[in-house]
Amino acid sequence: MKHTLVTLFSVMLLTLTSRSLAQEPLPVYLDDSQPVEARIEDALSRMTLKEKIAIIHAQSKFSAPGCPRLGIPELWLSDGPHGVRMEFVWDDWNHADWTNDSCTAYPALTCLAATFNPDLAFRYGNAIGQEARYRKKDIILGPGVNIYRTPLSGRNFEYMGEDPYLSSRMVVPYVKGMQQNGVAACLKHFALNNQEKNRDNINVEVSDRALREIYLPAFKAGVQEGGVWAIMGSYNKFRGQYCSHNEILINQILKKEWGFDGVMLTDWGSAHDTDEAARNGLDLEMGSWTNGLTWGVSSAYDNYYLAQPFLKKIESGELPESLLDEKVRRVLRLCFRTNMNRNRPYGCKLTPEHTEIARRVAEEGIVLLKNENHFFPIAPGRYQKIAVIGENAVKRLSEGGGSSELKPQKEISPLEGMIEKYGREHIVFTLGYASGAPNYSNELPSGLDVDSLVQEAVKVAREADVVLFFGGLNKNFQQDCEGDDRRNMDLPFGQNELIERIIKANPNTGIILISGNAVSMPWLSKVDGLIQSWYLGSQGGPATANVISGEVNPSGKLPFSIPVKLEDNSAHYFGEESYPGVNGTQYYKDDILVGYRWYDTRKIKPQFPFGYGLSYTTFRYGKARTDKKNYTANESVKLTFTLKNSGAKAGAETVQVYMSQKKPSVLRPVKELKAFKKVYLQPGEEQVVELEIPVQSFAFYDEGLGDWKLENDKYTLHVASSSRKIHSTATIEVNN
Ligand code: GLC
Repeated sequence: MKHTLVTLFSVMLLTLTSRSLAQEPLPVYLDDSQPVEARIEDALSRMTLKEKIAIIHAQSKFSAPGCPRLGIPELWLSDGPHGVRMEFVWDDWNHADWTNDSCTAYPALTCLAATFNPDLAFRYGNAIGQEARYRKKDIILGPGVNIYRTPLSGRNFEYMGEDPYLSSRMVVPYVKGMQQNGVAACLKHFALNNQEKNRDNINVEVSDRALREIYLPAFKAGVQEGGVWAIMGSYNKFRGQYCSHNEILINQILKKEWGFDGVMLTDWGSAHDTDEAARNGLDLEMGSWTNGLTWGVSSAYDNYYLAQPFLKKIESGELPESLLDEKVRRVLRLCFRTNMNRNRPYGCKLTPEHTEIARRVAEEGIVLLKNENHFFPIAPGRYQKIAVIGENAVKRLSEGGGSSELKPQKEISPLEGMIEKYGREHIVFTLGYASGAPNYSNELPSGLDVDSLVQEAVKVAREADVVLFFGGLNKNFQQDCEGDDRRNMDLPFGQNELIERIIKANPNTGIILISGNAVSMPWLSKVDGLIQSWYLGSQGGPATANVISGEVNPSGKLPFSIPVKLEDNSAHYFGEESYPGVNGTQYYKDDILVGYRWYDTRKIKPQFPFGYGLSYTTFRYGKARTDKKNYTANESVKLTFTLKNSGAKAGAETVQVYMSQKKPSVLRPVKELKAFKKVYLQPGEEQVVELEIPVQSFAFYDEGLGDWKLENDKYTLHVASSSRKIHSTATIEVNN
């Protein structure tokens, strides 16, 4: 009896409370049916001053606290642009050594750019977004879209090359693909991070025109077309003010002119001043050194510029609370787009689809630079003994390099890929050269004896039917590594001498360079086969072997020019003031002439031009035609031409269209990329390629106007297969 009464009573109680709870409406900020902006204002109105201060700066190495009392979750951030980085301990740069934080390592962004395939960029961003979501990350700190200005920059491998149009077309789908998973992409590093040397404080002086035409377009596209939810400030200064709290870049351009409604966050340690951070649009402070700008003191997040110092200035009335509220609104908007969005998918990781995308991007990004006497493809069975020589055939290149390091669940090396493709009995491997372990701050010599490595390599080469040398750069300090630049453009670790010795021992040698940067090639005339490969990640081996064997027809195109020598490069042509800077300031004297814009305008022949890449088949271009002769500013040119696969293998060609203005009132590059399209054709197949090119895209930035200017003039459109190989032209006239 008693038991029944108790049960009855508890059921009544439960009914009463549940009915009373059900009667109380959900707070607006928690109600998914409410508009985000209303939810933001409601949450903001409920937060105390201290809670508002807390939500705009880090609580650990890679997280910010949200608002526990209101049930607004922590924000978790993770590197990086090529995959979801391993876990870190709470408050320093040590890996947490979890056993469940490995990832799919996708190819580096130079490889993605080299595919010239925006559809792949979408799939790439989506894949990382899925893995990030599954790993409960709300912001991925990538992609990087800084322009490749010098071949020495340690982080070019993380970016998408020298051309603002290519970077713009590739970054938009990456952002969209990622953010459809409810994970924020974070464009970086805003702006002008074009070298690593003295990155923490170098002051960049550059003209408005070069800023607008070269260095900002990819960021602008990411914001206005990609709808990116976060942007990371760079370490350097622009016109004397740190970029992470820069009045011109953030308040005037990013937020006011472009209408960016997301979160502007620091790089780790890139905030330097409370007043500037408060007034110049910094919304989220991460990774600051917490005891007076030296090495971080543990768990001293209250020392952050936007923490206690900011609070005190608000409490004293020195700074208005409205500045804080604007930051909190943006962080809250990011929360509602990510960890408070109940409808976002749940993600997944290490799926066969992820592996397939990693392999597809790798295969489509590999660039065939030289192929004489049918050196490539090497069909299985063509040779009995294939020598694979070089440390880059086996080195784990997803490690090191700085913050883009990854812990791939697997990273199939080129050697493993070659053995899988050709059979162990046909492959002979030797190291040839050795670098030390990846490290961010100094060289760690390998300890191996150089001479014996070389002797062994020469012997193996002599005894083989064909030699494939896998060299290039790596992620070691002062290589393709964050924090510093290379000191020259030469292959490191004695590779040039080794290559010469190998070629002498066996002229039937091909070179596969793995890098994120251009290198000098003194041996080029002595080899028949040359491939520019990249940091390909988990599927490097299969992708490399598939291209070498001919199973995949290479279709990559160079996203940056390869100069014959460093002095030919625009940044180095103007001496130290231009690169790396003198007394803390550098002047971008090359201005708008960066990359092929420089080489082609100054008639300096590069070793290999931007947009260049061979195929195992050939393509024939028809005559370019436009839909009419005269255009106004708000029209688009409809450009058509035929493209035929005139060879015996299926393949893909990236057709490129460069624009030149006949009589500009200002200096303009002799050509600027304004369209490209990757066309897949079966042998013998011919397609009519149609491209629509907005006339407005022919404008240049007029510093006097402070705006873009399209002049009435004749404009020539060059249909090309690289910045230097023009197949057909069509000239039109613009009359505004
Ligand atoms: C690094 C990098 C940045 C990275 C951040 C967090 O210094 O510059 O790209 O996302 O710190 O690791």
